[in-house]
Amino acid sequence: MASSLLSVASHTLSLASSSSLETHTGKPKLGCNTLRFNKEGPNPFTNSRSCGRISMTVAVNVSRFEGIPMAPPDPILGVSEAFKADTSELKLNLGVGAYRTEELQPYVLKVVKKAENLMLERGDNKEYLPIEGLAAFNKATAELLLGADNPAIKQQRVATVQGLSGTGSLRLGAALIERYFPGAKVLISAPTWGNHKNIFNDARVPWSEYRYYDPKTVGLDFEGMIEDIKSAPEGSFVLLHGCAHNPTGIDPTPEQWEKIADVIQEKNHIPFFDVAYQGFASGSLDADAASVRLFVSRGLEVLVAQSYSKNLGLYAERIGAINVISSSPEAATRVKSQLKRLARPMYSNPPVHGARIVADIVGNPNLFNEWKAEMEMMAGRIKSVRHQLYDSIAAKDKSGKDWSFIVKQIGMFSYTGLNKEQSDHMTNKWRVYMTKDGRISLAGLSAAKVEYLAGAIIDSFHNVS
Ligand SMILES: Cc1ncc(COP(=O)(O)O)c(C=O)c1O
Repeated sequence: MASSLLSVASHTLSLASSSSLETHTGKPKLGCNTLRFNKEGPNPFTNSRSCGRISMTVAVNVSRFEGIPMAPPDPILGVSEAFKADTSELKLNLGVGAYRTEELQPYVLKVVKKAENLMLERGDNKEYLPIEGLAAFNKATAELLLGADNPAIKQQRVATVQGLSGTGSLRLGAALIERYFPGAKVLISAPTWGNHKNIFNDARVPWSEYRYYDPKTVGLDFEGMIEDIKSAPEGSFVLLHGCAHNPTGIDPTPEQWEKIADVIQEKNHIPFFDVAYQGFASGSLDADAASVRLFVSRGLEVLVAQSYSKNLGLYAERIGAINVISSSPEAATRVKSQLKRLARPMYSNPPVHGARIVADIVGNPNLFNEWKAEMEMMAGRIKSVRHQLYDSIAAKDKSGKDWSFIVKQIGMFSYTGLNKEQSDHMTNKWRVYMTKDGRISLAGLSAAKVEYLAGAIIDSFHNVS
């Protein structure tokens, strides 16, 4: 007791007399040394000055955070905020990639509700998961990705760690690159999902872009892509979208994937797949994983980040995984130990709810089949509005412009080719909220709104340059 009193006296003998110490400008008078103490030492959150042996705490109206500038709104999530603030009845949110029903309402899969009921019936507890996540989830997710009988799984060459959805899993992969491949560059498609660059920037991994989108054809610039991957320094990481490329909706053909794998192999690069739409692009879990499986079947070492946000509608549960397929079980064991080491100080261990949902659904043949049916239903609704949109635009636009790229693209999005000004016009005049790169989420479109959207796109394309 006595010693703690002494320590308080020596560290915080303070006079909180702000008025007597402030000048008419509101700034504290100087003249004594400025000290900031707490029991552990300097404290950046108080502004105290020492005059002889007395330390005086002054109230200041200048924030210690004055030097922190306002961050710009997120280009994707900021669109939803602007949409919410709009009171127009016409408004349509095609910004965020989240599935909506025909009534444009968020959708919780029936099979997810069933899995949640099972959890309640079992009375599952809320104990911490291990750092690597739920074992049943990790097994299920690797098997969904690679196929249960994949030799890489059988030979225990796959290190799987549950991550905080696709984003958190990419971030763990980026941290592994930063720590064990210092200076290695990640090649990112131009354009790409808005968060990729943030993820590698924050992980301090250098990146550069490879050509991907050809505005002339609104298709894939395959030659450019191959050239850029070829000319990157040997041993670079190549970030590839496993299916349903975001934002373009343009995927390489199976033959093109073979050639991409050839170049990556020749150059000793390491592919890093981002699989955020497995089963959601084509309606088939296997077809949408074909690109990853091709690379693994060639014996390449591969990183894969997975997400269950879209295909199970588990956006807010933050459930996904980082998989590292290595050439030996020993390497996989070491990699896994390091992924755990990276995860521990970031978030300690992952959340359990989404992991149980995935593990329960995949582990139960009835639920698994129900999931596949619901996924096909969601993918089917998106495909249907995609075709309706194309039909409507093609019928209304008499200019002769070829809009067939809309139906050649796949997945949740259509990359309309509208530039920033035209995209702004879509929002300002037509109250259609979308990202400024011309991407629209078809998952947010209903049959009832197709004609309206077609009119808005035609007007913006032809009347705004
Ligand atoms: C290409 C791509 N990668 C990763 C993600 C990650 O999403 P989440 O962190 O919600 O799983 C998304 C989401 O839109 C995406 O489009």
